[in-house]
Order: sequence, then C-alpha cells, then structure tokens
Amino acid sequence: TAESKDALKRALAKRAVGLVKSGMVIGLGTGSTASVVVEELGKLIRQGQLKDIFAVAANYQSRILAKQFGVKTVDLNDVNAIDIAFDGADEVDFNKNLLKGGGAAHTMQKVIDSVAKECVILVDHAKVVRQLGSTSPVPVEVLPPAISPVLRQLATLGGVPEVRLALRKDGPVVTDLGNMMVDVRFSNGIQNAAELERRINMIPGVVENGKRIFCSSHATFLHIHCVVGILS
Ligand code: A5P
Repeated sequence: TAESKDALKRALAKRAVGLVKSGMVIGLGTGSTASVVVEELGKLIRQGQLKDIFAVAANYQSRILAKQFGVKTVDLNDVNAIDIAFDGADEVDFNKNLLKGGGAAHTMQKVIDSVAKECVILVDHAKVVRQLGSTSPVPVEVLPPAISPVLRQLATLGGVPEVRLALRKDGPVVTDLGNMMVDVRFSNGIQNAAELERRINMIPGVVENGKRIFCSSHATFLHIHCVVGILS
C-alpha cells in the first residue's frame, strides 16, 4: 500500500542520515525518497545531533525542501568536495546500474554524485529490475535548438524517443537548467547499459542522459530489502 511504502521510505531515510557526521557537505538528490532524507536530516540538525552541515541541492525542489526543513545550502562551485550524496532512482539492476531522470533533474544529480566521496541510492524493491528500461524510458536532457536532430539520432539507437510534455503547462517540460526532455523507450529493455549511455551522450545537443553506471567502489547501496533485514 501507499502507506507502507511511505513507512519504508522513512525507515530507509532514517538509516541513510545515520551515515552523516557533523561538518559534512551533503549532496541532495530529488524525488519523493530523497525528500524524506532532507526531512530527516533537518530533524537531526534541529535536535542538535548534527552541526555545521551544508548541502548542495540538485534542483529547485531539493533546495526549497532544504530551506523548509532548516538544512543550509551552498553552491556546488563553492565547495571542494561532497562527503556523501543521497538520491533516489527510477530503476536499478543487479549490477547497480541506475536509470534516473524521471524527475528531469538527473544532469545535476550525476554531477553531484560524481564528486561525492560516497553516494547512497535509496530505492524500494519495486525499483529493482532484471534489465534496465523494463518499466521506464531513458530520459535525455537536450538543448532546445537541437531537439529535431537529436530526436533523429536517438531513433537510430533502437528506441522510440518522445519529447516529454508538461502536465500543468501547455507544451514541453523545461528543466531547471532550461533544456528539454526526451524519453526514449526501449521495448526490449537495455542490453548494454554502459555502451548505450556513451552513445547517447555522444550525440551533439545532448546535455546528459539519465543512465549512469554505478561504479564507485566505496558506494553504499541500500534498498528496502537491506533495511528490512537490518531492522528485523
Ligand atoms: C529525478 O530526476 C529522478 O532521478 C529521481 O531520483 C527519481 O525519479 C526517484 O524519485 P522517487 O524517489 O520519487 O521515486
């Protein structure tokens, strides 16, 4: 149920913020799971259990939430490193390859995660798939003046690309960085995630696709099964 899902997200977020120590610079991803992390982080700061915490937010949503829950934010360009980054994902496979970008914030998420010493991805079991692309399309952020040639190039990669339309606005989604979003659906899933990521990102006009290979050796991978196991 939605309620038990929320409770699991909460349990996951509590465990995740347990990894934070005073004085750390935190990376904040976006989405409903990452939002609970911001809330739990704010609680620890308010209770005085964590001090001198600064966060780098991936988009407007996480920056607004950070302000709301009393987590101070800084610009990525004003910090030398990020100690730990928290984020959600749309899909994750057994090799910890991630599909991201359902919230159109994956470009800065990838930048933040790439400079983080440790990166914690929080997902519930419903996000774990045998093959990436099984349930979600691959989101690609595209420079608006290049949209047509990029769509043609994406179609040659074997997927079906579609410009993402806004829900409460006429026309396309415009990202926080001022770009458009294309979702590429691969009906048979994605065979070689690393190769596809490389090929998409090589198309001129593509800012960033929503896939990333989770290669950080010190990465902590948490999903609902781990948390349930740890708590019980
Ligand atoms: C944002 O662009 C995405 O990559 C999010 O991380 C993803 O959509 C996860 O969101 P939920 O935690 O709401 O499922």
